[in-house]
Parts: sequence; C-alpha cells; structure tokens
Amino acid sequence: MSEIKLPEVELNIYTPREPVEAVIVENRICTKESSPNFVRHVTFDISGTELEGHVQVGQSIGILPPGEDENGRPHKLRLYSVSSPTKGEDGQAHLVSTTVKRTIEEFDNNELYLGVCSNYLADLQPGDKVKMTGPSGRRFLLPENATDFNYVMFATGTGIAPYRGMIKEMIEAGIENDIVLVFGCPYRTDLLYADYFEPLAEEYDNFHYLPHISREARRADGTKKYVQTCLWDAAELMDPLLEKENTLLYICGLKGMEAGIYQALGQKKLNEYLDIREPAAGKKPEDWDEKDLKRYVKPSPRTFVEVY
Ligand code: FAD
Ligand code: A2P
Repeated sequence: MSEIKLPEVELNIYTPREPVEAVIVENRICTKESSPNFVRHVTFDISGTELEGHVQVGQSIGILPPGEDENGRPHKLRLYSVSSPTKGEDGQAHLVSTTVKRTIEEFDNNELYLGVCSNYLADLQPGDKVKMTGPSGRRFLLPENATDFNYVMFATGTGIAPYRGMIKEMIEAGIENDIVLVFGCPYRTDLLYADYFEPLAEEYDNFHYLPHISREARRADGTKKYVQTCLWDAAELMDPLLEKENTLLYICGLKGMEAGIYQALGQKKLNEYLDIREPAAGKKPEDWDEKDLKRYVKPSPRTFVEVY
C-alpha cells in the first residue's frame, strides 16, 4: 500500500491567552424546520490573521465564549471541527467554517441547561466578533497523497463537519478511488449537508453516501440502524472496499461510536484497521467487554478517530 504521509500542520498559532478576533460572515441553520435539533453552519472571516492559509481540513478551531463559569473563572475554550476545505470556504482562504450543534439538555428536576459555547456561537449574527484559537489537531487529517487511497468515513451528527471539506477537496482533485460516507443522525430532518452530498453521489460513481436515520429506519431484524450496521447491511459495497490494502477508515462524532464500529470490524475479521492487544486478542470480538474496548482495542495507523 502507498505510505500514509500526513501533512505537517501548524498548531496553536493563537492560544487562549492570545486569541485572535474573527468576524462572523454567515450563520445559517442546517437542520430542517421541524427538527428537534439545531445545527448551524457558521463561517468566520479570518483575513489578516495568521490563520489564513494555515488551517488544514480535519483540524479544529477553538472558540472562547465570553463570561465566566460558576467558579468565577473565564469560560474555557471549546473546539469545533473545520467544515470548509483547506483552501477555505468556497475557495476563499480568508473564510473558515464550522458546524455547531446547540447543546440543549433537560434534567430530571425539569432544569433546562443550554451549553455555553454552542449556544453563544449559534446566536451570533454576521458582523459579530469572536475570540478564536488554533488551529488544533495533528492526526485527524487527510494524507498528503490523499487520492491514492479509498475511504470509509463514519460520521454521527456534527461529526460530518470535517468530511464536507475533505470530500470536496478529493473530488476536486479528481480522486478515482472510492469514498463511502456513512452518516448517522436521529431524523430525516437532521441530514446535514445532504443538499451537497446527495447530488454528489448522483454525479460520481465512486462517491457513496449512506445515511443511517436511527429513529426512523429499522434494520430487517428490527434493530436500530446505527452507522456500523452498514458493515452487514451494505456488505456488497463495504467488504471488497475494506479488504483493499489502500483503504483508510475515518471515524468522527459521538464519543462511544468507536466501540460499535471496532466490534463490527473485529467480527468481520477486518483486523488491519485495529490494534488488538491481550486480553482482547484472546477473545471473540462479540465477547469484548467495555474494558476491552476502552483499553485493549485501539485504532491501527489506517484508522483515524476524532470523537467528543
Ligand atoms: P457546555 O456548557 O460545555 O456543556 C457540555 C455538557 O456539560 C452539557 O451537555 C451538560 O451535560 C454538562 N454541563 C456543563 N455545565 C453544566 C451545568 N452547569 N449544569 C448542568 N450540566 C452541565 N461540537 C460541535 O457542535 N461541532 C463540532 O464540529 C465539534 N467539533 C469538536 C471537535 C473536537 C476535537 C472536540 C474535542 C469537540 C468538538 N465539539 C464539536 C464539541 C464542542 O467542543 C463542545 O463540547 C460542545 O459544543 C458543547 O459545548 P457547550 O459549551 O455548548 O456546552
Ligand atoms: P440515537 O440518538 O437514535 O440513539 P446527533 O448528534 O445529531 O444526535 O446524532 C447522533 C446519531 O448517532 C444518532 O442517530 C444516534 O442515535 C446515533 N448513535 C447514538 N449512539 C451511537 C453508537 N453507540 N454508535 C453509533 N451511533 C450512535
């Protein structure tokens, strides 16, 4: 297989102590009107900053929300994956985008909690300024020789953000290898960037878009359609692709989604995507428990993971 050469990236040009100011140029809703979720595509103008031209697809930016936490300390930064390509949103190097989901939780005592930074960002209007840090992340990247590989990209929720830029870049570079994007979301109303991915799949035979709508669709046996179920339900597409030695696996989104994917890979004996250590190595993948999956089953160099 071609060597996987990750690009050199800039890290933390701007830090929480010395952040930079960026200006909102667009803040639009991505989820449909009737969705119970609120996800927004937010674009920032970074002209004149050192970030311009130095944020790679796959990296994240940090946002410092204003105000203080309950202990009177300034709020900590939160990271958001970049959803624009390395060249910038619409090819404009001074524009960088992300995809933000409002964190909204109701607790048993009827108390409603609104996440500090996601709601701050989602409320902003064009012209508003934010304090930004970054870039951060040195591993969840496309290889320099990206078009030499096939890709299976798993996303849940806003985990789709980095793939928007990555896939745009590879399609524009004329990739002939296959890309499968497996996207999991609760409802049809939450199909993020479907207006981009659906026509792309129509146009390019080597781009496959597999939405998995967990609270609407059911598998033949009645179980939930989580992203990892495609390893069985779309085996005709997935098996030959995953068996190729130049296929890379990407996982982005909900913390905890790796466990199900690793177990499915193990069951399918696709062990080259995993680094399986004892005692997990001595067990059948279906018998891996939480501890095995947390400590002894890790991604191999062919698997790239960003979960939060
Ligand atoms: P917070 O205020 O930090 O709350 C988070 C959770 O903490 C709440 O849901 C709640 O359960 C609990 N909590 C905290 N304080 C209280 C309290 N006082 N009372 C009750 N409960 C409380 N998110 C995206 O939307 N898009 C992305 O592209 C994205 N990319 C990421 C990339 C990386 C590498 C990482 C690490 C994270 C990424 N995230 C992304 C997550 C993001 O960084 C934030 O964690 C997320 O937006 C929630 O932040 P918040 O400030 O809104 O919520
Ligand atoms: P569900 O919520 O029906 O259990 P979002 O971030 O927009 O809520 O989307 C996350 C998606 O990931 C949902 O469809 C959610 O399904 C699904 N999901 C939840 N847990 C897992 C898991 N362990 N593995 C894969 N997908 C999961």
